[in-house]
Amino acid sequence: MRNGLRPLGLLGAWIVASSCGNGGGNSKGEQTDGGGSNMELTWCAVAPILEARCQRCHTDPEKNGAPFPLLSYDDTQRENRYEHMGAAIDRDFMPPLWLEVDPPVEPLSCREKATLLAWVDQDAPPPPEDDESCVATAPVELPCP
Ligand code: HEC
Repeated sequence: MRNGLRPLGLLGAWIVASSCGNGGGNSKGEQTDGGGSNMELTWCAVAPILEARCQRCHTDPEKNGAPFPLLSYDDTQRENRYEHMGAAIDRDFMPPLWLEVDPPVEPLSCREKATLLAWVDQDAPPPPEDDESCVATAPVELPCP
């Protein structure tokens, strides 16, 4: 997505994202290969978004007619579900603003959407091996495209 148009802005956002929790320190020479969508994401980037935006329905047992849970990394890998996630998010089918529930479903922010779509684009990388529960991984959200 528009790689390289705003390298400084994206780098700035990257520094902010990566400095959460450990004071940063990578501000020099970390020119990645261009845009936010090239930043490597793991399950840890999307887990909090799924929890906040999807697991209200995609839980176990499923609620409000959702067809499967999206609780764990493994859930997203069964039957290539992550690809369906990408398609559903991309065309604003999910989260379902069209579904009548109380309280009403709210749309994803553009940062949440960009982060989810970039993770799917990267073939849905797993959590880091030494941090399965994402405790030590700083939260990441890509900037709006
Ligand atoms: C308010 C409940 C609710 C929320 C929140 C919700 N879903 Fe769904 N989801 C559903 C329902 C209901 C369906 C079945 C829709 C249908 O096929 O008519 C569905 C279907 C899906 C499907 C299958 C679509 C297909 O290919 O047919 C995917 C993938 C999906 N949801 C992903 C997500 C993701 C990712 C999120 C969060 C960003 C999310 N959903 C949030 C209720 C929800």
